[in-house]
This record gives sequence, C-alpha cells and structure tokens, in this order.
Amino acid sequence: MNNTEMNTKYNSNRNADTKIDMLATDEARLIYDRHAGTYDICSLPMELMAGTARRQELFQGLKPGDSVIEIGVGTGRNIPHYPDNIQVTAIDFSERMLDNAKRRAEKLNVENVDFHLADVQELPFENNSFDRAVTTFVFCSVPDPLKGLSEVNRVLKPGARFDLLDNMTYRMMGAHINRKTMDNIRLSGFHVEREDNLFLDVVKRISTVPVCSKYT
Ligand SMILES: C[S@@+](CC[C@H](N)C(=O)[O-])C[C@H]1O[C@@H](n2cnc3c(N)ncnc32)[C@H](O)[C@@H]1O
Repeated sequence: MNNTEMNTKYNSNRNADTKIDMLATDEARLIYDRHAGTYDICSLPMELMAGTARRQELFQGLKPGDSVIEIGVGTGRNIPHYPDNIQVTAIDFSERMLDNAKRRAEKLNVENVDFHLADVQELPFENNSFDRAVTTFVFCSVPDPLKGLSEVNRVLKPGARFDLLDNMTYRMMGAHINRKTMDNIRLSGFHVEREDNLFLDVVKRISTVPVCSKYT
C-alpha cells in the first residue's frame, strides 16, 4: 500500500479512543527495567552494524531554539548527538533506563534536556508542541504502536519532522517480530519522505512528516 492509500485509511483506523493495554505495557516496561544495566553491552552488535553512524543524522537541519522530543531515550545513546542550541524533551517509560540516560547526560555535561517518565501511548504534552520527534529502536516494542505513533503525530507542530531508526523484523528484549512498522507509520497520519535499509531490510532509517488531521 502506498502513502496515499494508507492516508485515506487513517481516519477509519485511528485508535486514539482505545484504552492502553496496561498488562502488555507493564510487561514491556518490566523487561526494560530488568535489562537496563546490561542494555548497552547486549545491543552492541546491532549498534555496530546499523546504529552508531546514523544517530547523528537524526539531528541535522534543526534551527537554534527548536524543540525536539526523543521517544524512548533508553540509556541515552543519542545524547552525544544533541546539538547544544536546541531544547530536548526525552521520555521513556522505564525508570531504570531513564536513570541511565540522566547519568549519561551528566557525564557529558549535556544540560539542554528535560527527562520525563512517560509512555508514548499517552504523552503528557499539548498538541503541536515540538519541531521534531526522534526515536531509535523503540516502536518494535511499544504494545500499541498505532496509538504511540498517533500520539507523536499529535504533539508535533505543523511541518515538523519525525525521524526514526527501527528494527522491522527482530526480536530482542520484548521486541515484536515482523511488526508492520512502515504500514503503522502511514496509518498514523505520516507521509514517508525517505526510507533507507541500513542492515538488510531489518533496520531502517525513516524520515516522515505528519499530513493528516490530528486528534484534538
Ligand atoms: C531498544 S531500547 C532503545 C533505546 C534507545 N532509543 C537506543 O537507541 O538505544 C527501547 C527503549 O524504548 C523504551 N520504550 C518502549 N516502549 C515504550 C513506551 N511505550 N513508552 C516510552 N518508552 C518506551 C524502553 O524503555 C527502552 O528504553
């Protein structure tokens, strides 16, 4: 299905009114809490194959003063790439992952970031709050990815960009295999401007803009 076909399905498929699956969410959170101490070592192979070189690109083209939301900041692997003239809001639903990110920011003397314990399926921010959203290796494990992606759409300003690195067919720490992430992105009201395979078709870099009307 192409962008246009997906977008026409947007209104009938949007699920903002559905409830969050708390059981699945708590389970996923627990997995990340448990693995927070070993996450950096366990994910090193994937990092070397596809991640490191591309993280910096996610923050290109930002203007001084722009507000950026990072979804699922984890242990803070993107923090070294934050330009110092923007304001970052970094969220994660795992307290232990978030603590690691805070420690990394302190170590690197990065001060332009506010950390929030929050679930992407229910973001505690106003509509149209951010100039860009960035996420790396997160939506493969969000229990209701459509709900999460729709929330990202809601908090982005008109014309903002949403850039992702993600696993498409991979299982690690609660990731869901064969998740239809590309379809989900389009079904959540985003137009895919760019889609690059970084490691076979397993890891992709995706650049999108919101095109459909948002929840109010
Ligand atoms: C595989 S790790 C990736 C961490 C980091 N972005 C990176 O590139 O190394 C996935 C992260 O997303 C977070 N996460 C998963 N589902 C989430 C949700 N529903 N809301 C917020 N964070 C979530 C996890 O706690 C974890 O820190």
